[in-house]
Amino acid sequence: MAPEPRCRICGDAVVEFLDFGTQPLSDAFRDPGDTAEEFTYRLAVGRCGTCGMVQLTEEVPREEMFHEEYPYLSRGSSVMREHFRSLAERFLTTELSGDDAFIVELGCNDGTMLKTVAEAGVRHLGVEPSGAVADLAAEEGVRVRKDFFEEATALDIVATEGQADVIYAANTLCHIPYMSSILRGVTALLRPEGIFVFEDPYLGDIVERTSFDQIYDEHFFLFSASSVDEMARRHDLELVDVERLPVHGGEVRYTLARPGARKRGAAVEELLAEERGRGLGDLAVLERFAERVREVRDDLVALLTRLRAEGHRIVGYGATAKSATVTNFCGIGPDLVEFVCDTTPAKQHKLTPGSHIPVRPPEAFSDDYPPYALLFAWNHADEIMAKEQAFREAGGRWIRYVPDVHVV
Ligand code: SAM
Ligand code: TMP
Repeated sequence: MAPEPRCRICGDAVVEFLDFGTQPLSDAFRDPGDTAEEFTYRLAVGRCGTCGMVQLTEEVPREEMFHEEYPYLSRGSSVMREHFRSLAERFLTTELSGDDAFIVELGCNDGTMLKTVAEAGVRHLGVEPSGAVADLAAEEGVRVRKDFFEEATALDIVATEGQADVIYAANTLCHIPYMSSILRGVTALLRPEGIFVFEDPYLGDIVERTSFDQIYDEHFFLFSASSVDEMARRHDLELVDVERLPVHGGEVRYTLARPGARKRGAAVEELLAEERGRGLGDLAVLERFAERVREVRDDLVALLTRLRAEGHRIVGYGATAKSATVTNFCGIGPDLVEFVCDTTPAKQHKLTPGSHIPVRPPEAFSDDYPPYALLFAWNHADEIMAKEQAFREAGGRWIRYVPDVHVV
């Protein structure tokens, strides 16, 4: 029997509430000729009975996920490019306006955020273990250290470059199970008045929208204000601000500081009260979420199977990491979805992990519109709908599964 899962924040027991079974790595796109066995693990999610943190019960070794071939690029969405540019501008006029200001970004990826800081001539450092995307950041004039951030990395940065005014991480902190090492590193690297800002998918939105595809190997933690508040306290930090964000299907930007260094904003207490009011941390609420996930799976498979039986073609839109959970949990393969189109060069002409659906460039979609497109990149829906109006005008329909299965 597998050992009982222990919480990666406080060490107590984690109670599982949702099991997706055996899954491949969500970003392990495969060459069509490759016959090697795929790496798999058991994807299940639970909640710590003591500190309330929602987390995966099994951890994938980090080198399996983040390496030279890691394909994800921040620059793939115009909305995200603007999101990062405006945040960088905000940092430049507030936290980074002093002499010798210094910002460190964890998981800077292709440099989309730090590029604006570099252009302003402000001291910065990106820490990024995935080599190919780190090279793209360097090409943008961003200073990058090819490394995993953890306590040892932080101590080395302090020794060579000093402490930082801002430590920032987008869609990265929730990827990292070894949180104690991270937060010890953050505490060492942060200037006395500095802030640690991170933004990740929000448990409140995931439960409300039944967006179960936010759960995969790289999303180890599903944060909420109450679990982050508790996590910060246990590491001698304080949650001083929260900001709801519409991007990536609903996120929260959390700001942590040393206790007493910053005034705690009213938004923190408001979000904590809202979470208490809806019972977000209650196991019963999470178990009902798990029931709805299974209903969405059954409805989606029934719809796709019926459309295919009627002779319709269905194409997937966006080979997202999230879609690995959908296709593998629902058993969706090339018999139901002919191919998935995606703009990311490193994903094109490969097969989706586990489900082995071919990935093609966007032209494969626009050159011969199918009657139905399954919107895997639903978190970029506004951007995609706006640029794919010709598909709708040609009679095409979008199949969506968040918050429930529907055709538009
Ligand atoms: N921040 C970008 C964004 O929001 O678009 C990239 C997010 S991407 C989903 C996660 C990134 O975190 C990857 O580029 C990965 O290589 C990086 N990463 C994973 N573990 C890390 C660690 N311990 N320290 C720094 N970066 C890490
Ligand atoms: P993400 O949901 O993790 O950001 O991944 C989005 C994926 O969808 C990524 O592989 C890029 C792809 N994509 C497109 O193919 N076309 C688009 O218009 C957008 C916004 C994303």
